[in-house]
Amino acid sequence: MCGIIGAIGERNVTPLLMEGLKRLEYRGYDSAGVAVVYQSAIQVRRAVGKLSNLREQLTSQPLVGFVGIGHTRWATHGPPTERNAHPHRSAKVVVVHNGIIENYLELRRELTACGVKLLSDTDTEIIPHLIEQRLEQGDDPVTAVRLTLPRLTGAFALGILFLDHPDLLVATRRSSPLILGLGHGENFIASDATPLVPYTRRMVYLNDNDIAILHRESYQIVDLAGQTVERAVKESQVSAELTEKWPYRHFMQKEIFEQPTAITQTLQGFLDYASRRIVDFPTQPDLGRVRFVNVVACGTSYHAGLVAKYWIEGLAGIPVGVDVASEFRYRQPPLAENGLTVVISQSGETADTLACLRHVKAAGQPVLAIVNVPESSIAREADAVLYTRAGPEIGVASTKAFTTQLAVLACLAIALGRAQGRLAPHQEQELVAQLQGVAGHMERILTHDEAILGIARELMHATGFLFLGRGSCFPIALEGALKLKEISYIHAEGYAAGEMKHGPIALIDEELPVVVVAPRDPLFEKVASNLEEVKARGGRVVLISSNGSGQRTPAAADFSITLDTSGDFIAPLLYVIPLQLLAYHIAVLKGTDVDQPRNLAKSVTVE
Ligand code: AGP
Repeated sequence: MCGIIGAIGERNVTPLLMEGLKRLEYRGYDSAGVAVVYQSAIQVRRAVGKLSNLREQLTSQPLVGFVGIGHTRWATHGPPTERNAHPHRSAKVVVVHNGIIENYLELRRELTACGVKLLSDTDTEIIPHLIEQRLEQGDDPVTAVRLTLPRLTGAFALGILFLDHPDLLVATRRSSPLILGLGHGENFIASDATPLVPYTRRMVYLNDNDIAILHRESYQIVDLAGQTVERAVKESQVSAELTEKWPYRHFMQKEIFEQPTAITQTLQGFLDYASRRIVDFPTQPDLGRVRFVNVVACGTSYHAGLVAKYWIEGLAGIPVGVDVASEFRYRQPPLAENGLTVVISQSGETADTLACLRHVKAAGQPVLAIVNVPESSIAREADAVLYTRAGPEIGVASTKAFTTQLAVLACLAIALGRAQGRLAPHQEQELVAQLQGVAGHMERILTHDEAILGIARELMHATGFLFLGRGSCFPIALEGALKLKEISYIHAEGYAAGEMKHGPIALIDEELPVVVVAPRDPLFEKVASNLEEVKARGGRVVLISSNGSGQRTPAAADFSITLDTSGDFIAPLLYVIPLQLLAYHIAVLKGTDVDQPRNLAKSVTVE
């Protein structure tokens, strides 16, 4: 997934483009580039690697212009090289693109046969040339774009400049996000709102196949037929300080420590603190009639869905299927009568998950989305939306979005249990009381940060980790493993603790740290036995547990974090925090780029 930005106004847009790309870098950072149209010339600067490399280039070769576009890349077609960096151009057209043109090879062949010399390996490069061919046939720029788009198969968000029209910026989208920012004497485009909030809060969220025509003082949106369409202007709630990391060293660290606040903000949307009831739930779909729940998501959001399975089946007695989105629709899942599909996505733009939403809706089944980014594609296309209120999550490794997803899913499970007549009021109040205590427990757990840093120092040179958990903390073991591997580049595997003896136990030796997630719940004794099995084979154990009486204390773990918490229901929200901190500190000690790990992007908007 890539980040694109554009601007047209009375100021030199280059500094604005660069600042905007800095806020979009979490979307991809293999290469970056900017282009302006100025004094009858298209000027382009591109650099491989981090944005700082492009900034350096601009210091020695500055760019001045009053209309420009910028791009930060997550490579899909062609390695991250300078010649594959965006923007891409023809003689008179320059383009930045987020998405994948699936029929690009056929179009490349057609252009080459016409004598066009393509310089990159990318799918994007064919776009400016196709548009230019239409200009040469006498079309105006907007018509040229409008007639080119139907030839493209796949997903795109495009920013387009024209050499002969320095007073024009064109933008369009299909399946990749793109918004307009409306300023005074200047207008903007971007992949999301964060780079634009310093300049304007007035945003227009484009729909698929909208073509935006921007001038300094005005804008218009037309459809593929050239007809004007109206789109609402919305006030963005994203505030500039929310996208700054100070006083923390990394966004990920900030977002780990923001979790108590994020949870409080999220639960306020669903709990009545006085009556201890779940309130303000959508009336449609009718939760009382639901007979089966499909949960579909990717990555960390998928792990949240796995936790929800335990909660919904336990509280509501409804069977739950949980799938990774990239598998779900290809296995032809039977979509049961009175079924409900829940899609979970922080960004609301993940292509695999969005494709599942569309697949299920086309089959006539209702879709409930749990999303963090308002106005995102998934939020706008779902039948009902439950928002996490985590605020912008910039770190590529998801933390506060995960625990706020769990908070919303816990509320959903309670609401389903109540609607299905399986939860008495006092039971609902007891569960809600646990949820009300989560933020306070999180604050206390975060005080273990220093101790966890000490464990990280001891274990940072390990070449592999095993994470074990049972019940609703088994997905937490999976999440702990994902956090560690995606930011420290150390291989890690999450496993059901009871399954270890069926294979992974062969891996156990003093070189393989085993992190055991073991709340003092009814399964604690079983997990304690698994811990003994590890110790008996010379393994090193990190035990994450809680105070508790009347239960066997397992053999001395090598490292132990004891959480001051109670309540089995909320354990997943709490036990993930030490794992987030462990992954964070190991990655920092190893010197990896914690907020922008190699090869990753914050939201993958390609399948
Ligand atoms: C989480 O740490 C990862 N960065 C990744 O697995 C992420 O959860 C996944 O790509 C899904 O993203 P989404 O929640 O925005 O759909």
